[in-house]
Amino acid sequence: MSTTDEINLPLIDPTIKGQLLDTSVIGFSFAPQIVFGYGCLNRVGFLSLFLKAQHVFIVTDPEIEKLGLVNKVQQYLEKTGIKSTVFNEIEPNPKEEAVIKGAEKFKNTGSDIVIAIGGGSVIDAGKIIRLLAKQGGRPSDYDSQKCTIMAIHEMLPPQISIPTTSGTGSEVSVVAMVTSKHEKITILGYPLISTIALVDPQLTMSCPPKLTAICGMDALTHAIEAFISLRINPVADMFSLQAIALIYQNLKKAYSNGQDTLARINMSLAATVAGMAFNQKSVGLVHACSHQLSAQCNLSHGLANAIMLPHVLRLNKKVAAPKYTIMGSGFGMDFLNASDDETAEKFILEIEALSKEIGISGKLSECGVKESDIEAMVLNAVKDISAITNPLQPITKEMVEKLYRAAF
Ligand SMILES: [Fe+2]
Repeated sequence: MSTTDEINLPLIDPTIKGQLLDTSVIGFSFAPQIVFGYGCLNRVGFLSLFLKAQHVFIVTDPEIEKLGLVNKVQQYLEKTGIKSTVFNEIEPNPKEEAVIKGAEKFKNTGSDIVIAIGGGSVIDAGKIIRLLAKQGGRPSDYDSQKCTIMAIHEMLPPQISIPTTSGTGSEVSVVAMVTSKHEKITILGYPLISTIALVDPQLTMSCPPKLTAICGMDALTHAIEAFISLRINPVADMFSLQAIALIYQNLKKAYSNGQDTLARINMSLAATVAGMAFNQKSVGLVHACSHQLSAQCNLSHGLANAIMLPHVLRLNKKVAAPKYTIMGSGFGMDFLNASDDETAEKFILEIEALSKEIGISGKLSECGVKESDIEAMVLNAVKDISAITNPLQPITKEMVEKLYRAAF
């Protein structure tokens, strides 16, 4: 058995319907340390001291800086006598040049920890900056399609991740993504995980409705794809179900009234918990398709997921319909006397209705995607690492092309 085989979590036959096999080996790990609470940003100085920081490298984007959040972090750090440098050059769907530049600056400033404050792109960028600063090279050198997770073999500098949206779950995951020449590079490795996730729902209060909607659908996609993934992990499944119920009960409220504090708190919790689920069980074909839409057509990740989700669920219901019934109970749906196929369709229709109510268009052609983009996206989606754990296998080019065309 190779080292990689020992590390990979087990795959199961989807017809087994979730029960454990005697021979299964399950990985449980729910790092990082999570500090969660309304207003807990004020702990950032103390937590940096706890990590023995002397010079913090703050990774962010210009929009977050304009909101004054970076200033706040710097003030908390100053109170504890810690210096900081701000690197604000991370755009949505960040390019590899940006993280290479960030890693150089991290080293040149003598920084010893990263604080990433922003959405998933910023937190992912923070992870890759730490990797390149410690091990050198370019992001493509660590592409998970070309090398094993053992490629990241060093302990990396610590990272405090502070999400400003409720969606990506990047603050609790071992994954980081970056775009290189219109292709998404996925980097995977335990050392990438944040040391501390500082989740303060107050930071999401100013998140505009459109961003609230697409981030919320990203979190819902994480919870669903993790739940129906081929990997087994009953603890992660509990997280998925909790997240699904919280999102269903709170996303519309947070979308229609951004000042609904309780809805914001519940959405922050749901996004982090959904992140913990997919960090154990990975995702599936929705993400395999959406990664290409972001890399090639610059669609936001959450929007791409929201559009692809019902189409992929209709495909996967052939093998995962009973699990849809369990997830539907989190929506408060009653499936008494209904067949698996009927319950699955009801569940999908409910997701489509939710998407519509929060203003998400259901078509790729309305979001700037051209028909001529489909061919290249199909080839990349089939080999995307997220496709491996999709419940329906094998994934074929014909299958993926049908999905993109159905969503077009
Ligand atoms: Fe995602």
